[in-house]
Amino acid sequence: MNDIRNFNEYQKAYQLSLANPKKFWDEVALNFYWRKKWDETLQWDFIKPDVKWFLGGKLNITENCLDRHLDVLGDEPAIIWEPNHPDEPKRILSYNELYLQVCRFANVLKNQGVYKGDRVCIYMPMVPEVVIAMLACARIGAVHSVVFGGFSSTALRERIEDAQSNVVITSDGYYRGTKQIPMKQTVDEALKQVNIEQKVIVFRHTGQPVNMISGRDVWWHEAMQMASNECEAEEMDAEDMLFILYTSGSTGKPKGVVHTTGGYMVYTGYTFKQVFQYRSGEVFWCTADVGWITGHSYVVYGPLLNGATVLIFEGVPTWPDPSRLWQVIDKYKVNIFYTAPTAIRALMAEGDDWLKPYSLQSLRVIGSVGEPINQEAWEWFYHQVGKGKCPLVDTWWQTETGGIMISPIAGITPLKPTYASLPLPGIQPVILDADGKEITENEKEGLLCIKFPWPSMIRTTFGDHERCRKNYFAAFPGYYFTGDGARRDKDGFYRIIGRVDDVINVSGHRIGTAEVENAINEHENVVESAVVGYPHPIKGQGIMAFVICNHPPDDEAKTKKEIGEVVTQIIGPIARPDKIYIVEGLPKTRSGKIMRRILRKIAEGDISNFGDTSTLLEPEVVKKIIQAIKN
Ligand code: PRX
Repeated sequence: MNDIRNFNEYQKAYQLSLANPKKFWDEVALNFYWRKKWDETLQWDFIKPDVKWFLGGKLNITENCLDRHLDVLGDEPAIIWEPNHPDEPKRILSYNELYLQVCRFANVLKNQGVYKGDRVCIYMPMVPEVVIAMLACARIGAVHSVVFGGFSSTALRERIEDAQSNVVITSDGYYRGTKQIPMKQTVDEALKQVNIEQKVIVFRHTGQPVNMISGRDVWWHEAMQMASNECEAEEMDAEDMLFILYTSGSTGKPKGVVHTTGGYMVYTGYTFKQVFQYRSGEVFWCTADVGWITGHSYVVYGPLLNGATVLIFEGVPTWPDPSRLWQVIDKYKVNIFYTAPTAIRALMAEGDDWLKPYSLQSLRVIGSVGEPINQEAWEWFYHQVGKGKCPLVDTWWQTETGGIMISPIAGITPLKPTYASLPLPGIQPVILDADGKEITENEKEGLLCIKFPWPSMIRTTFGDHERCRKNYFAAFPGYYFTGDGARRDKDGFYRIIGRVDDVINVSGHRIGTAEVENAINEHENVVESAVVGYPHPIKGQGIMAFVICNHPPDDEAKTKKEIGEVVTQIIGPIARPDKIYIVEGLPKTRSGKIMRRILRKIAEGDISNFGDTSTLLEPEVVKKIIQAIKN
């Protein structure tokens, strides 16, 4: 598919995508199977915003992920599943098998009364059935809303309510190292307070006892037995919704990012092939959970669109010991390994000895995603894991962008540690100053924006278009604002600095400080709180909370523990603060706004210069906070 095979071809493709984007994307899109070709390639307006790609085109993405491959790749593995426990049996699903299971489960959904356009919530572990569930939704035109299995019942309930989902697909539980974690129970808890009539489909995985509610809950395996093998794919318009995925922003509740069918397919299919330079027959392993966008685009859709073999792993990198990932790479002769800097740092900290028994010779390309990768982690990944011979693609993108935006193309773009490097064809990044003027000089930090649409960009936030406009298109009219800071060097290479808004990136997970504050404030003794990120050696950023209590706690340690538990309960363990300080006051301006800039500096341990503090209401508060930390 208009493959990029050398740097010259990359430059030519990039130039064409600037000069004639419609021609460029028409050529790419023609590599896919459309029931009816589009009438118009693109209509766009970044003010409203209103972006449409491949208008009038008709397709079903599962015909591109499955049906289209069956003749040639039917018996080839589509999914290899490695369980949590290394001694448990693996599972391999060929394209034929995956196709059959998807069709059957699509019929299960139909039997449960799911129609085109309905939202289906998927709350599942990393098992092949999560992919089957997603594709079955897409097969019948239902919109999947996958919720990460680590989210609490409250977070799950909010997402079910916001998407107005009336079917939840879940599992009895899942494994994480030595732990067995319930899922169905969390769903039951969540649904207690949901007023929309529900059906729940439960996949039996751990075998732990669950409470099945008659009339509402059905077992996956029982429902599958009764379903037929054939399911004609629903004809979808290119702009029909494919999925909703919730992500955190700087304000309020998580928002449901909406992606549509045609553009998302074209972009994830194209970028998977180009960035990783995927060659047929290769085993691709992306360690992301399907609950995040990386899992959607590069565990499920991107690889399957290309007929790839994708590895899915249920376990964790450090159990039974820190060689688990290397063992899996050798076991399945993984060729492309795509993971997050936080995992790299965690394994690097365990020492090089864990790698020694493994050859890792099968690896051809390695990749990083989710947060800035620091030089030390980059070097370690490149030399110890990639043995200095595998290109390391540092891929920058977001839930909202749907696919990789700025990244080296494996083996083609010269590598520069810590640089996401060059924009992919079709992507027009700019760096703006605070006034919205384009910064054209090199090496100057500014705000990363995109000035032209790409096929897999966010279309709206579910049920609240105004929120989409305000969040991404209002700050700098005419641009999509990413929320990230970046700078460009003399070669045009981009270095992503990190979020410039009140979003923190903890182990590659996006967490809104406001969400954590709202959760902390639910503790009975908490009056107010402020949350900021701070540099963390493994997680990238840790969460630091400054909390004002109603009355001084008798037992500070106990109160802090309780606060942590409240956050775990309301959001999930990923949002639990690493450090909590109980303070007497927060640095506020005369108008009552918390000066987070000061808290961030304190959290970073940089108390030498707070900049302009003339608007601070009570300057002595700052000294007291510093003292509280020292104590
Ligand atoms: O800050 C950037 C960071 O992750 C954010 C997007 O998070 P999310 O929507 O959860 O998607 C993560 C996976 C695509 C971005 O705004 N980020 C992502 N990739 C990189 C990165 N920061 C630096 N370098 C990257 N390669």
